[in-house]
Formats: sequence, C-alpha cells, structure tokens
Amino acid sequence: MTTTQPLTLITGANRGMGFELAKELGAKGQRILLGARDPEKGAAAVSQLEHDGIDASLIELDVTNSQSVENAAEMITKTFGYLDILINNAGAVFDAFQQPSVVNPDQLRQDFELNYFGVVNMCQAFLPLLKAAPKAKVINISSMMGSITSALDPETNVYRAVAVGYQSAKAAVNMYTVQLAKEMTRDNLPITVNAIDPGMVATEFGGATPEQAQAMGARPIPEGVARTIELATDPDDTSNATFTNTDGVVAW
Ligand SMILES: NC(=O)c1ccc[n+]([C@@H]2O[C@H](COP(=O)([O-])OP(=O)(O)OC[C@H]3O[C@@H](n4cnc5c(N)ncnc54)[C@H](OP(=O)(O)O)[C@@H]3O)[C@@H](O)[C@H]2O)c1
Repeated sequence: MTTTQPLTLITGANRGMGFELAKELGAKGQRILLGARDPEKGAAAVSQLEHDGIDASLIELDVTNSQSVENAAEMITKTFGYLDILINNAGAVFDAFQQPSVVNPDQLRQDFELNYFGVVNMCQAFLPLLKAAPKAKVINISSMMGSITSALDPETNVYRAVAVGYQSAKAAVNMYTVQLAKEMTRDNLPITVNAIDPGMVATEFGGATPEQAQAMGARPIPEGVARTIELATDPDDTSNATFTNTDGVVAW
C-alpha cells in the first residue's frame, strides 16, 4: 500500500455507508475515488467532500455493467496506474420478506447481479491496478445476513429475517472473498481480501428512511463503517480471508 496517500476506490459511495467511508477515509488522508452510478448524485457527493477539504474525484461506475466497470478501470489506469484499496460497498436487497418457496426469480437474479457479480466484476477488472500497488487491500462489504451459522441460530436477528436472494448473494461474496484471498496468497501477491459485516445500519438501504431504520434498532452510520475504517487505515494489518465486524470474527 502507498503509505503517503493511499488511493482508495469505493463503489456506491454517493450515499449511505459508502459516502461515510469516503468522508472518513478522506479525512484520514486517503485520496478518494468516489464510485457512483448516477453522475449527478456522484458529483454532488464529491462537492460535499471537497467542501470539507477532502481529495475526492468522481468515478462513474455501475458495478452491474461490464462496460462501465471496464471504462472506470481504464480511466484509473491512465490517470494513476495503480490502486491501493478497493472497497466493494455497492449493494441492495431486491427480495426482502419473500419466502424461498415463492421468491421471484427475476428479483433473485437482481440480488446476485448487484451483490455478487458486481463484486466479481470489480475484483477482476481492478486486480491489475491492485497488483501495480506496492501492497493492496480488497474489502468486500458483506452482511451478517449472509451468515449461514446465524441463519440457524434462534438467538440472532438473522434467524427471523427472510431475503433468500440477498442472503445467498452475500454468502456467495463471502466464499469469493475466501477463494480470492487464497489465490493471492498462493501467487505470493501482497493483496489481502476480507469481508465485513457492518451490522444493521440506519441508511436508506431497503427503502426505509434512516430515521425508520434507527427506530427499528439500526446503528448510526459511523458505527456501521467503523470496522472497515479500521481495516482500511491500518498499514500493518495482515488480516486475510476474514469475515469480521466491530465485535470481532463473524461466523460464516
Ligand atoms: N444498511 C444496513 O443495515 C446494511 C447491513 C448489512 C450490510 N449492508 C451492506 O452495506 C453496503 C452499503 O449499504 P448502505 O446501507 O449504505 O445502502 P444505501 O444507502 O442504500 O447505499 C447503497 C449504494 O449502492 C449504490 N448502488 C446500487 N446499485 C448500484 C450499482 N448497480 N452500481 C453501483 N452502485 C450501486 C447506490 O447508488 P444509488 O444512490 O444510485 O442507488 C448507493 O450509493 C451494501 O453492500 C449493503 O448490502 C447494509
């Protein structure tokens, strides 16, 4: 990792946890590439960061669109030639509350298109840039909703939740995280790959307002990004192939 001013790309960073990550990592001296699929929303987010003195640039990026991902990688290759940190944050749920016996297959596919294939697209397209950095990190924003152990544990909120498409896609991201991390290690590359569970966080995720989410017990956004900030800012962190939250290890 470039220790002076790490170059960090965050997907889905125009709002919610992505924006908070951009704000906090930018305030800690990282150079932020703010990924947003809607250029207007992205530009508004960048001006807000610039107003706070953060070094941020807009990267137009729809992670479900291969051409958009390729264009972004090409642009960053031409401008910088490397990338220190990739945070795969973009995500959404399309099949909330649908039982597995009747879940709409189109919505199930949308869950996978964004939450799983979006991450795979990004990792594959940006690996050449990550390899060009002295040391690099991939951080996948997963979810406790993808924990099969929690889905079977009556003591957890995940036990009562149903969104089988979203949950399966996050579980698949966890497996991709482990397999990519192992590949990097086998190839002796100084690139770590980890998954994070932010917990239930008061954003606009799932269509609720942050206030509604908070009333249902969601934590404030800065708490939701705390583990990711820790992982992204510690130059000596050697975590690899892990799934963690602010309390420690999360069961797969
Ligand atoms: N909030 C929670 O309780 C919670 C819990 C566990 C895990 N997570 C995970 O945390 C991550 C961030 O969620 P959040 O709560 O901050 O949600 P959010 O406020 O809804 O933000 C999601 C972001 O993803 C972007 N996005 C959606 N589709 C995209 C696409 N195809 N390409 C690029 N960007 C896209 C959205 O852009 P637009 O503004 O253009 O829609 C938005 O910027 C997600 O991966 C989510 O699964 C959230």
